Amino acid sequence: MRNPMVAGNWKMHKTGEEAREFLSAVKESVKGETVEAVLCAPFTALPPLREALGRSHASIKLGAQNMHWEEKGAYTGEISPLMLQELEVDYVILGHSERRAYFHETDAEIEKKVFSAFAHGLTPILCVGETLAEREKGETEQVISRQLQGLKNFPKEKISSLVIAYEPVWAIGTGKTASAEEAARVIGWIRRQIFTLVSEEVSREVRILYGGSVNAENIDQFMAEEEIDGALVGGASLKPESFVKMVEIAGRRKGR
Ligand code: PGA
Repeated sequence: MRNPMVAGNWKMHKTGEEAREFLSAVKESVKGETVEAVLCAPFTALPPLREALGRSHASIKLGAQNMHWEEKGAYTGEISPLMLQELEVDYVILGHSERRAYFHETDAEIEKKVFSAFAHGLTPILCVGETLAEREKGETEQVISRQLQGLKNFPKEKISSLVIAYEPVWAIGTGKTASAEEAARVIGWIRRQIFTLVSEEVSREVRILYGGSVNAENIDQFMAEEEIDGALVGGASLKPESFVKMVEIAGRRKGR
């Protein structure tokens, strides 16, 4: 069974102090939930979050939003997997479309990052998705297929823990979502790709989230889809009430 997940991608929002305030507002409410709630916070907010959370809170996990693949070196401004290990994060978002678009990350670089994350005990949340122009040209599957090529090389014993987030670029931060049926269709297609590239067993185990303008008002329709294992949420994850509400709704639909 795939454990459902609601992951907040805070992007470049919240200082350490603001993160701590957020956590104290949500901590008790999400305690009993069977959904995995993940906070992907800026690097500087991770130590205060870890300190405030302790190690015993089973429902809330921490994630980073990017990392370099090397352990150390002359890479000004980058952060390494060893540094993330020290911050005790569980997850790391890799290949987010904002990294691809604004920082020109390539599929080859993202593949190296996923390898490195696995090698250092971090679980990647690998983002894939097409732009509006690509969708209009009917290239959605072709684009995602290219973004998923690394799958066949990833370590077999680790790959089933991978989390994939399908985020159509045109739906991110725009208020436009894919319809739940369309998101489920693409996610079903991604699962079949995993079947072909890796194995049936892995295709059944990998969690695939939908992302792109998800909020407390619309999350239920995505969670109602069997294929969709959770959501990666940007803007709507910044407010404690809406984060808690999304975790509750996902829990009602998918929790055990
Ligand atoms: P959004 O962002 O929910 O604000 O659209 C999603 C994401 O970028 O992960």
